[in-house]
Amino acid sequence: MDETQNPPTTEMQSTTITSETLPFENFSRRVLIKTILNRPDGGLGLAGKRVTVGGWVKTGREQGKGSFAFLELNDGSCPSNLQVLVDASVWNLGDLVPTGTCVFVEGELKKPPVGTKQNVELRVIRVLEVGPVDPVKYPLPKTKLTLEFLRDVVHLRPRTNTISAVARIRNALAYATHTFFQKNGFLYVQTPIVTTSDCEGAGEMFQVTTLLSDAEKVEKEIKKNPPPTKAEIEAAKLLISEKGGVVANLKSAKASKEDLNASLSELKNAKENLSRLEERSKLKPGIPQKDGKIDYTQDFFARQAFLTVSGQLQVETFACALSSVYTFGPTFRAEHSHTSRHLAEFWMVEPEIAFANLEDDMNCAEAYVKFLCQWLLDNCLDDMEFMVKNFDKTAIDRLKLVSSSPFERISYTEAVELLQNVTEKKFENKVEWGIDLASEHERYLTEVIFKKPVIVYNYPKQIKAFYMRLNDDSKTVAAMDVLVPKVGELIGGSQREERYDVIVKRILEMELPLEPYDWYLDLRRYGTVKHCGFGLGFERMVLFATGIDNIRDVIPFPRYPGRADL
Ligand code: 4AD
Ligand code: MG
Repeated sequence: MDETQNPPTTEMQSTTITSETLPFENFSRRVLIKTILNRPDGGLGLAGKRVTVGGWVKTGREQGKGSFAFLELNDGSCPSNLQVLVDASVWNLGDLVPTGTCVFVEGELKKPPVGTKQNVELRVIRVLEVGPVDPVKYPLPKTKLTLEFLRDVVHLRPRTNTISAVARIRNALAYATHTFFQKNGFLYVQTPIVTTSDCEGAGEMFQVTTLLSDAEKVEKEIKKNPPPTKAEIEAAKLLISEKGGVVANLKSAKASKEDLNASLSELKNAKENLSRLEERSKLKPGIPQKDGKIDYTQDFFARQAFLTVSGQLQVETFACALSSVYTFGPTFRAEHSHTSRHLAEFWMVEPEIAFANLEDDMNCAEAYVKFLCQWLLDNCLDDMEFMVKNFDKTAIDRLKLVSSSPFERISYTEAVELLQNVTEKKFENKVEWGIDLASEHERYLTEVIFKKPVIVYNYPKQIKAFYMRLNDDSKTVAAMDVLVPKVGELIGGSQREERYDVIVKRILEMELPLEPYDWYLDLRRYGTVKHCGFGLGFERMVLFATGIDNIRDVIPFPRYPGRADL
């Protein structure tokens, strides 16, 4: 689409070429639509200015018997579309109106006729480039599409209003996360994605291995080029002894240098041939085994490795040296959960604080969640209004409530008592001391009983991870979960067990192997420190903020059992 190939352009009659041009945004050759529409006057004050904009047509319609067309143009910079007017003399309108068409145009901003809802519209002077769409084939028709349908076109769904609003909200939450921790003196640490330790000790890890692809390669190779038989190797050995014999004879007969060298070279070739054959005879199909088990010493990392379920254990090594740190990255869980709250790949924000206890942990979690809510109110109101209109009427009120009122804090024991006294609802899972609270219990506490976020602390040790600090009652650990309306568990955290003997006992009690945690135990052996931390499920935070129902719609590329597109 070279500009020089464009049909001749015609200036619209009302256009004065001398009008002032709005400067391009940094690093691109256009003005963002939000720069025009997100002004307090909705862009009206820019009437008369010349601009270049680019975006994708949401809806396009020809009017005035095909003499001009209206395009609703969106470039993803804000939820609103810019109304664009193109005259038939400027471009073939049929090429511009299909939904999904990319247009890059230059024109003049105008105050539209009285009675229209736009504050400003763009009258096109020149069409610079067009990325056409065949409307018959375009997978995203103009009709309202369900979020479920959009999961099958994950590569095109960023062009929809919902997924682009979610993307901007996610971006804002990520920026707010770094802002909050940086402002509070936390250091950002990048923890590994490939790990050899199971942080939660729950065995829900995806394995990272090249043994399978290596085995496939060997199988293919063997098929193409079968390994030598025993007879072939014997023959090669025989050849060496023959050639050796010839060399010996030549030497004792004091043969000429040339003859001797020729024979030596043949002997060398025979030896090389044997070692090639022997090497190939080692090629065995299948996964390498030793003592009846898979031999991981032959795997890529020379040991079993996994995708991390949490960066906590590794980030603790930095907390125990640099005090306040956080990690923010992807985490992976191979649990077969088909719920609207679980993903196999999700992002987690994990701060870790030295010289701090469970109360400090709760204070930090509460301040962080409040900060995120206030940030969205301050920076994403237009997208939040979209959510209110389309998904959850209470989304903005919820952010306001959470950012301004203190969270409830109750112990696990109190939570169980409260739930046991509930008469108006029958829970699917029976409530008794010692159970892991189910989502229905968590949501009842936060949505019905308290109607705000609740922090439940001091959980039974049997249902929590080995690293959580044992309380003096020896029955509970200094754990805390932040429960929020719409979602249930948003945050899981704890004070860490800093006492060497106690943590060793806990690992053994939970029937976990000591060896993989030996490095972690060093943090307790040498210069141990009271510390705490938590993990916030980033997608759960997006669910909470937007009011969208399914976690698969708030991550750009959802991964869950049976599905990993792109
Ligand atoms: O409660 P979890 O399992 O805690 C940890 O992993 C700790 N190591 C964190 C820490 O102390 N540094 O997970 C933390 C949060 C949960 O509260 C939940 O919001 C989210 O991660 N989460 C998931 N989100 C989406 N899909 C899943 N399968 C999730 N599992 C946990
Ligand atoms: Mg948890």
